[in-house]
Amino acid sequence: MMSSVIGTGAGFWLPRGASTTAGRVDFLFYAINAIAIFFFFLIVTLLLYFVWKYRTRPGHAAQPSKDHNQKLEITWTVIPVCIVLWIFWQGFAGYLDIQTPPETAYEVQVLGQKWKWLFTYPNGVVDDDLHVPPDEPVRLVMTSQDVIHSLYVPEFRIKRDAVPGRYEKEWFQALEPGEYQIFCAEYCGTSHSSMLAKVIVHRSRPEFEKWLADAGNFLDKLPPEKLWEGGQKLYSQRGCKQCHSVDGTAGIGPSFKGIWGHSQVLSGGGSVVVEENYVRESILNPQAKVVLGFEPVMPTYQGRLKDKEITAIIEYLKTLK
Ligand code: CUA
Repeated sequence: MMSSVIGTGAGFWLPRGASTTAGRVDFLFYAINAIAIFFFFLIVTLLLYFVWKYRTRPGHAAQPSKDHNQKLEITWTVIPVCIVLWIFWQGFAGYLDIQTPPETAYEVQVLGQKWKWLFTYPNGVVDDDLHVPPDEPVRLVMTSQDVIHSLYVPEFRIKRDAVPGRYEKEWFQALEPGEYQIFCAEYCGTSHSSMLAKVIVHRSRPEFEKWLADAGNFLDKLPPEKLWEGGQKLYSQRGCKQCHSVDGTAGIGPSFKGIWGHSQVLSGGGSVVVEENYVRESILNPQAKVVLGFEPVMPTYQGRLKDKEITAIIEYLKTLK
């Protein structure tokens, strides 16, 4: 099929192409562009020429024009039909290719939610970046917890919606190790533009396996007095930071700075002191006690944060004086 090398460099039109399918996507994009530019200039040039050639002049009476030219009409029908069929064929074959993950692909579950991506690996590790081994196809099984999001990796030329209540699949194989930007390409509310993540293509399969194993038990390796560091990592990794700042600025949710041990006014009236049980409840059942001035938009972390992880986050909150 199409070479995966054609058009994979960063160019004026497109970013660098970094997946095995990027070459064929780019090739078709540039081919359609070239065809469009060619016919644009051909038609406009002929148009201007005929306008000039057959302009009204004194002494030249307008002549009746032919209303039929079999050869000309067959030519200008058959050639465009062939071109359009070729474009269709290229597009359709490419679509089927992108649509059909190889059987052997490494599978990662993707969850879109307002406003972050969560990637779940076969061993249960959850991360907010997509780590993958090099030189093998990766299949993403995607869904959404709330509204429609769209996972978009420009350098891989893949984009697919994550839709609540169903599973969408897409796949890619990176050409080389490195980091690639993930965007959300479906407007999904206030923090749509910060629904960012990275694809991290590891340098080797063993390096990837090591990352996966470490990610699975990083809290267990921390001594108790360092547990807050694990909480800090979870804070940025598991989506807290998209809505809760640690510098006092209010975001989608209240800032975490200086709230520990202090009383917060609730939107339903009354108040609550920020201590272990309140934080735990707010993580597992965020709508139970919403701080005054904020919308009840936080998703539950029930089943997605282990007790030890919640404890680590609590320890981290305690450090935010
Ligand atoms: Cu999620 Cu836009």
